[in-house]
Amino acid sequence: MLRCRVCLTRSWERVLSLGATPLANNYIRLNDLKKEEIYYPLTLLFCTRCGLVCLDTVVDAAVLYDFYYYLSSESKTMLRHNTWLAKTFVERFGLSGSDLLVEIGSNTGTQLGFFREKGVRILGVEPAENIASLANEAGITTLNRYFNEATAAEIRERHGRAKVILGRHVFAHIDDLDDVLRGVHILLEDDGALAIEIPYLVDMVDGNQFDTIYHEHLSYFSVRTLQHLFERNEMEIFGVDHLDIHGGCILVSVKRKGCPAFPVRGVDELTAMESGKGVQTVKYLEDFARRTVEIKVELTGIINRLKKAGKVLAGYGAPAKGNTLLNYCGIDATYLDYVSDNTPTKQGLYLPGTRIRIRSEEYARQHPPDYFLLLAWNYAQEILQKERAYLEAGGKFVIPIPVPRIVEAAGTAPGGASEAIR
Ligand code: TYD
Ligand code: ZN
Repeated sequence: MLRCRVCLTRSWERVLSLGATPLANNYIRLNDLKKEEIYYPLTLLFCTRCGLVCLDTVVDAAVLYDFYYYLSSESKTMLRHNTWLAKTFVERFGLSGSDLLVEIGSNTGTQLGFFREKGVRILGVEPAENIASLANEAGITTLNRYFNEATAAEIRERHGRAKVILGRHVFAHIDDLDDVLRGVHILLEDDGALAIEIPYLVDMVDGNQFDTIYHEHLSYFSVRTLQHLFERNEMEIFGVDHLDIHGGCILVSVKRKGCPAFPVRGVDELTAMESGKGVQTVKYLEDFARRTVEIKVELTGIINRLKKAGKVLAGYGAPAKGNTLLNYCGIDATYLDYVSDNTPTKQGLYLPGTRIRIRSEEYARQHPPDYFLLLAWNYAQEILQKERAYLEAGGKFVIPIPVPRIVEAAGTAPGGASEAIR
């Protein structure tokens, strides 16, 4: 049985099973449709010692990341966040021209570009070869490596120590966190900061975001659990920002234990809130599991009803989380004619498991369905704005999370049954 990567015990309770699914980012090429897909169990465990929520199955990182489809988003929402992050870090950490900022899992280097604009010395570390090449081609110096103790030593040798190490949406993906934190100790300046942005367990649970559970996301963290992890690794959290992106994230700032730099901010507020909600109890997760089943029943009810009424349905967005939702709910190509996605590399491919074809936004404009199931619900605001013309022409969205609801243009809701937007 798996050892907890935070507290090193084996004190598990099994809290939720989403069945078995293929890997959520393994979009299928037309020529590969005949090949059988590998299904892995998607089961959530809760550590009764440290509160870690994690998967019981660890898929080999090389299988997941050596070649990767996920390109960092350049949506308006995300570019706004990238701008904020660069500005905030320069102010908070007093970054100047000679300081080095290293980003772990830097993808195509979108975020690093914002730091470079501020005159900061930057270096990306990205394990996916195809993505590291894209970053380098775009002029963002990127080392094609997994970040660990060995990589940290190599960087220190070649570039010196880092004032800031940033990891956006990577900590949840890493099995051996101790190896990464040993690397941080090697690479970070004595008074430097590690900053990690991760989905927040409390937002996932309170927002019924069961679809964010997939094999890449090994861990689901509360602040309390992170404190446990860093404490064991001679570090301490000094700041937490609760952010409203990707359905709710935390930006956690960490320093070496005892380092006098940086004022403490936001930590006690969140840990107190977590205690109030009982986040460290198995009941908190059991309630989430119950609501997950309820949403499945409700959503499949709506989809079946629409289909029986002869409506045409398609998906909006082909995010990884959409694949958990569709596979778990059994919504496949017999229900959705296609899913549209604006990522060129995904277009023309098929969704893992459900085998629904991914089409461009242009295609969707030419073939508007009666209802779009909004799989990229974390961008709901931006997408509903963008698709005003579709809504005004009578098109509707089914938004599955946090609870299934139908959205249509203001003034067309029959008897107020649906939520109207302006
Ligand atoms: P993202 O939320 O980044 O996802 P993941 O669950 O994979 O971590 O993915 C959003 C997806 O939605 C991405 O494939 C791009 C797509 N998208 C559109 O097709 N149109 C849009 O207007 C937006 C904002 C996103
Ligand atoms: Zn534990």
